[in-house]
Order: sequence, then structure tokens, then C-alpha cells
Amino acid sequence: MLISGRGSNLQALILACEDGRLRGRVVLVVSNVPKAEGIGRAREAGIEVVVMRPGDYLSRDAYDRALVGVLQARGVNLVCLAGFMRLLGEGFCTAFPAAVLNVHPSLLPAFPGQGAQRQALEHGVKITGATVHFVTAELDGGPIVAQISVPVFETDDVEALSARILVAEHELYPRAVDRILCDRWRIEGRRVVFASDAESLG
Ligand code: GRF
Repeated sequence: MLISGRGSNLQALILACEDGRLRGRVVLVVSNVPKAEGIGRAREAGIEVVVMRPGDYLSRDAYDRALVGVLQARGVNLVCLAGFMRLLGEGFCTAFPAAVLNVHPSLLPAFPGQGAQRQALEHGVKITGATVHFVTAELDGGPIVAQISVPVFETDDVEALSARILVAEHELYPRAVDRILCDRWRIEGRRVVFASDAESLG
């Protein structure tokens, strides 16, 4: 998993692995921020942590290449981003085709980028939510794996709405990761089609 901060989604995935909701294992946590709170959560769970500071690399490409190397050396087959505040380049996405997931705090394609909860409030939507999607070079633009809706209340401020969405993320992300690891699926254009949802994958 790739993190930059709090790591509450990391915690949700660890818990889901422990209680069997997620049939997988978090083998490695990479943080681009040395003081990220999530690092402690990973260490407590006995998961290997690697800190990779962007300042230690000559270019974005060099960083991405090193990151690919670290992940491949552990035999990682799915990369999950959770609050990883760094754009990954084309090279990274090519190294892990259809194997990089992210969770975003809105119902994409609405409100991509930073401040999704604030964007939702400012737009006046009555329902927002969270999305798990494949990562492509387009910001928050990859094929959608799963979504969950969250109501917006009149009294909400960014903090209250973010907290409600975060609870939903913690439910959605483990479920989505489990499906990607254990179901049969394929990508058709922009759509992720699961065998259990379609009559036949052909
Ligand atoms: C989450 O809201 C996620 O949707 C967004 O960044 C936040 C990460 O939170 N991409 P955490 O570090 O998992 O607690």
C-alpha cells in the first residue's frame, strides 16, 4: 500500500485481512512522508515499511522507477493507494497494468482532485460518496471498481462530511480489493465487468 498520512484506510484493509473479509495480505507499506501516521499502524501490524522521500531522487521518473523496483522485489501483485499525495507517471502504471487501485472521497467522475468533500458541499449536491478506481495517468480518471453513496446534510461542514465519507471508505475499500483479488473480472473500455455481475465473461 502507498500512503502519505493518517493511514485509516490502510488500517481498514489490515483489519479486513485479519477478520477474513479481505482474502489477501498487506505485504508492504510505502510512505513518501517520513512522519506519516500510517507508518505506526503498519509497524504495529508487523508489516514491512519503506519510506521513500521524493527529495532523494533526481526526477519523478527516477522515483517511480525505484518505487516499481521496491514493489516488484516483494512480489506485490496489487498496489493500493490510500491518501498517497503524489501523482504516479505513465511508467509506473505500465509496470502494474490494471493492478493499481485508489480510493477517492466522492462519486467520480464528480469532484476529482483535492478537496473533493469541499467541492461537493460548494456544489450543493445532496448525495456524495466514495469511489474505488483503477489508477491511470489521468488524475482520478481510471475505470471504476466500486462506489458507495453518502448523504449530505444541511448542517454539514467539510469536517462532518469528510468523517461520514471516511466511514464509508473503510467499508468500501476492503470489499473492492477482495473482489479484485478473488473475483473474475475484465475491463471493457471504461467499465470493470465482474463475472458474478455479468451472465458470462465470454
Ligand atoms: C481518504 O479520504 C481517501 O479517500 C483520500 O485520502 C484520504 C486518506 O485517508 N484519497 P487515510 O490516510 O486513509 O486515513
